Amino acid sequence: MADLGPVAWPPAPIETERLVLREPEARDRAAFIELHASPEVHTYLGGPRPRDELEREMPEVPGQWPGSFVVDLDGAMIGQILLRRATEHRPAAVGKVDLGYLFLPRAWGFGYAAEACAAALRWFGGVLPGEPVVLATQTANAGSMRLAAKLGFTEVERFHAWDAEQWLGLRPPVASSA
Ligand SMILES: CC(C)(COP(=O)(O)OP(=O)(O)OC[C@H]1O[C@@H](n2cnc3c(N)ncnc32)[C@H](O)[C@@H]1OP(=O)(O)O)[C@@H](O)C(=O)NCCC(=O)NCCS
Repeated sequence: MADLGPVAWPPAPIETERLVLREPEARDRAAFIELHASPEVHTYLGGPRPRDELEREMPEVPGQWPGSFVVDLDGAMIGQILLRRATEHRPAAVGKVDLGYLFLPRAWGFGYAAEACAAALRWFGGVLPGEPVVLATQTANAGSMRLAAKLGFTEVERFHAWDAEQWLGLRPPVASSA
């Protein structure tokens, strides 16, 4: 995966009804560690990383690259949204921008992921108009599958990788209605 490349970054913070999408800051480090050390978050993502390793290796300001948004609720990070250009991936996805999302378990089930991802996709449609977005997730990841459908992704293919059935979805370009 590569970052989004030549887009103006960071954009001004993106405000939704309840959330703000913004670039990562040093004060988010603890939440990044929590996110990456959480077994619940990584149930369908190949397992969490050891907390002590994360404490040692996580940069002072984690996740600082074009396409990496922190999702902020009332001044605290609750998740991360990643828009990256796929390099090595399924042939149907290579060269396209891939959407990823990780939220802290305490923030699941309130529609925050849907609200934040929709805003990130709107932003993306404004800065790189006419580009589709792809998304890969395990079919067993019911929440992620439901979210993908809600965001307008439809199935390109199912395939087997990393000992599980994977789903590749695509969202065609949509006219920005911002
Ligand atoms: C996937 C994830 C972001 C969903 O977060 P969330 O806060 O539950 O999402 P939302 O509240 O916005 O819900 C989106 C939709 O998914 C549904 N959903 C969420 N979890 C679900 C579950 N376990 N089973 C079935 N549906 C679920 C919601 O009900 C909602 O649909 P609805 O509006 O029709 O009710 C969250 O579970 C997560 O961070 N998981 C770990 C990381 C991960 O697996 N990422 C995917 C790989 S990129």
